[in-house]
Amino acid sequence: MGRLDNKVAVVTGAGSGVGKEHALLLASEGAKVVVNDIGDAANQTAAAINENGGESISHIGSVADWSTGNELVKAALESYGDFHILINNAGILRDAMSFSMNEQEFDEVIAVHLKGHFACARAAAVYWRDQSKKGNHSSRRMIHTTSESGLFGGPAQSNYASAKGGILTLSLTLGRELSKYGVTTNVVAPRARTGLTDYIQSMAAPTSEGDFDVYDPANVSPFVVWLCTDEAQDINGQAFIVGGSGVWWMRSWSHINHIKLDSKRLSISQINELKDELFEGEDTGIPPFSAPKFA
Ligand SMILES: NC(=O)c1ccc[n+]([C@@H]2O[C@H](COP(=O)([O-])OP(=O)(O)OC[C@H]3O[C@@H](n4cnc5c(N)ncnc54)[C@H](O)[C@@H]3O)[C@@H](O)[C@H]2O)c1
Repeated sequence: MGRLDNKVAVVTGAGSGVGKEHALLLASEGAKVVVNDIGDAANQTAAAINENGGESISHIGSVADWSTGNELVKAALESYGDFHILINNAGILRDAMSFSMNEQEFDEVIAVHLKGHFACARAAAVYWRDQSKKGNHSSRRMIHTTSESGLFGGPAQSNYASAKGGILTLSLTLGRELSKYGVTTNVVAPRARTGLTDYIQSMAAPTSEGDFDVYDPANVSPFVVWLCTDEAQDINGQAFIVGGSGVWWMRSWSHINHIKLDSKRLSISQINELKDELFEGEDTGIPPFSAPKFA
C-alpha cells in the first residue's frame, strides 16, 4: 500500500530534473500522475511510470499559457475522476545582470514561473472550492517551487529572483484563501544537478563509486512527497530549502524594530532624529545570502 493511494497529482515541468523525480516518487507511492512539460520528455516520464506499474498520462503544453492550468485539471478529472495534488515546478533561466537584461528575458521568466504557478494554482482552486462546496472534503495539496535566489535575491537574476520571490508570497495568499477548502500550500527551494544547473561545477556527480550524490535531484522528492501525505496536513504556508541529505525550514520578512508618534505624521527631520532608535544594533546593509551548507 502506498502513502498516496487514490490520490491524483499534476506535476508541471516533469519531463526532466526535479519534477521528473517528483512524478516518479508520487507514482511509486500510489498516486496517479499527470505529467506536464513542453515537449516529448513529458511522454517519456509518463511512460516510465506506466512501465513501472504506476498510472500516468502526459500533457504537453506551456504553463505560461493561461489555458494550461484548466487543461491539466480537466485531464486529471477525465482520466482519474478527481485531483488532489498540484506540484508547480516548471521553470527556465534567462540570467543577465539588471543593466544587461532585456524585456524578453524578463517577461519569459515571469511568465513561466510566476504566471505559470498562478495559472495552474487558479485552475486547481476553482475545482477544489467547488468540490468543497459540494461536500467533497478531501485534503488537497499545492507545492510550489521557489529558489534560494527568490529567498535571498540572486545576482544576475532580477527576473528569476522576482518571480521566485513572488511565488513565496503567492503561496501565502493562496493559503489564506484556500485553507478553508482543505488545501495546504507550501514552497520548496530545491538544490540539485539538473538541466538548469549542470553548468555549476561544484554540483558535479561524485567521482568515487558509492559516495552519496549530494546534488541528485531525487534527493528533493521525498520531502515534497511527504508534504503531500496526510501526516503533513498541519504544514501550511511554509517554505523550505531541500536537497542533499537535508531540509531547511525558512521564514522571512519579520518585524525588526519600529518608531512611531501618537497620531501624527513623522516628518523627515523627526525620522532623521529617530533613525538610531529604528536601526539600533542592527546591520542595515544588504542582508546576507544565507544559503545552508549542503556537503
Ligand atoms: N536545480 C536546482 O538546483 C534548482 C534550484 C532552485 C530552483 N529550482 C527550480 O526547480 C524547478 C525545476 O527545475 P530543474 O532544476 O529540475 O530544471 P530542469 O530544466 O531539469 O527542469 C525544468 C523543466 O521545466 C520544463 N519547462 C520549462 N518551461 C516550461 C513551460 N513553459 N511549461 C512547462 N514546462 C516547462 C522544462 O522543459 C524542464 O523539463 C524550477 O522551477 C527551478 O527554477 C531548481
